[in-house]
Amino acid sequence: MNPRKASDSLTIMTELVLPNDTNVFGNLMGGRLMYWMDIAAALSAQKHCNAPVVTASVDNISFENPIKLGNVVHIEAKVTRSFNSSMEVHMKVWGERPDASV
Ligand SMILES: CC(C)(COP(=O)(O)OP(=O)(O)OC[C@H]1O[C@@H](n2cnc3c(N)ncnc32)[C@H](O)[C@@H]1OP(=O)(O)O)[C@@H](O)C(=O)NCCC(=O)NCCS
Repeated sequence: MNPRKASDSLTIMTELVLPNDTNVFGNLMGGRLMYWMDIAAALSAQKHCNAPVVTASVDNISFENPIKLGNVVHIEAKVTRSFNSSMEVHMKVWGERPDASV
């Protein structure tokens, strides 16, 4: 087996928060975010092992700031540890106002 670096599995997903993704406060729903994170994690893990994967468990998720309707969501995932047949995937998520830099 060839060793692989964490950076080899780096996966960046970008999504736009649309009305169907929000709760009554106009913020991105946690469930929708976790759905996107699940896909980003799977893509990253598959990059590492070259095989299909499933999510076995989730360690910890905390939502520190709301992400608003119209914001862009960035999800960065990479494999941070591999075991016999399982992997640990670390993710960073942040929202961005698409007009913030203009
Ligand atoms: C994850 C799953 C394949 C594990 O099956 P299993 O029969 O327990 O398999 P094993 O005991 O051989 O474990 C395989 C590996 O998974 C790890 N594992 C199993 N359950 C785990 C859990 N809850 N959390 C973290 N790792 C877990 C084991 O430690 C083992 O890792 P290792 O080979 O690196 O030591 C099985 O529980 C499953 O298919 N779950 C449903 C997954 C799914 O559908 N996810 C979508 C979201 S619902």
